[in-house]
Amino acid sequence: MRHLLSTHDLSRGAAIQILDTAEEMAAVTEREVKKLPALRGRTVVNLFFEDSTRTRISFEAAAKRLSADVINFAAKGSSVSKGESLKDTAQTLEAMSADAVVIRHGSSGAPQRLADSGWIDAAVINAGDGTHEHPTQALLDAFTMRRHWSALRGIGSTGSDIAGLRIAIAGDVLHSRVARSNVWLLHTLGAEVTLVAPPTLLPLGVETWPCRVSYHLDETLEAGVDAVMMLRVQGERMHAAFFPSEREYSRRWGFDDARLARLDALGLKDTIIMHPGPMNRGLEISSAAADSPRSTVLEQVRNGVSVRMAALYLLLSGGLGDHPPADSGRTQDNSNRREADS
Ligand code: ASP
Ligand code: CP
Repeated sequence: MRHLLSTHDLSRGAAIQILDTAEEMAAVTEREVKKLPALRGRTVVNLFFEDSTRTRISFEAAAKRLSADVINFAAKGSSVSKGESLKDTAQTLEAMSADAVVIRHGSSGAPQRLADSGWIDAAVINAGDGTHEHPTQALLDAFTMRRHWSALRGIGSTGSDIAGLRIAIAGDVLHSRVARSNVWLLHTLGAEVTLVAPPTLLPLGVETWPCRVSYHLDETLEAGVDAVMMLRVQGERMHAAFFPSEREYSRRWGFDDARLARLDALGLKDTIIMHPGPMNRGLEISSAAADSPRSTVLEQVRNGVSVRMAALYLLLSGGLGDHPPADSGRTQDNSNRREADS
């Protein structure tokens, strides 16, 4: 593979290769000297047309830990505000000999366009495009889950899998590229995903996705879950009213203090609470939940560096998907079950 654009088209072999390589990278980031010479002389451009804290910083840290040169480009303050096109911006960066372009863009499909256009030779990595995909977020989420369950089972993470785990992804699915990338990747890795959202925040066609759908967070928790991934309510993408009030949203779909206590009452002692960040504390997640020992929010951020090191290294060394572990293909059938009816 030359580019990393989505998890939809990522084979199980390539996904596991990234996760296993990320384990090796994690070992490096735990050393006193956190640097490898692997990408010395190569240039990574971070091309961010949308705001970011975690993704931009962790791609920068990842590239630097691999000894690459890094150019950070934010659309704000650039000639994009003078009307410069994506093509001209990309070619300007290409003229600076970029080997990899990490792009975040408000338009779904912009990274694909860049990869297909022939405007540039660099490897393209999607760092979040519109409401479409955010593949490295899903990979770092899977990495976090895999580490957690391997530790519980007392086995090493490398090569272990997350098949059969029950994952609830709850909240603003409609606007979430994180949800889309996670559904595809978790399905490929054999986990069982349930999306939980109000009907107004589910995309058209969700019944064709390889997951269950529910409108009721409490019912989903009661059925038993190994991880609950809360999604941010993406106000910046909402141009209409999608729920009656924030109070109502938080009561029905937020992970509040009562639901945190409920996990204990349900005997779900190993269930983790995830959030990609940034969080709206008090809306989709309470502070007690976000800061509880069950929360993996900061672990996810930490793991993001290792996963992005792995992605950059494999793409720039030309090795992604070349020697994948035995690929058993998608481990579940594509049957979809819409459970909720109201
Ligand atoms: N940071 C993630 C994204 O850019 C999730 C979010 O913003 O809610 O997609
Ligand atoms: N999770 C995530 O993508 O965070 P940022 O938007 O801060 O990069």
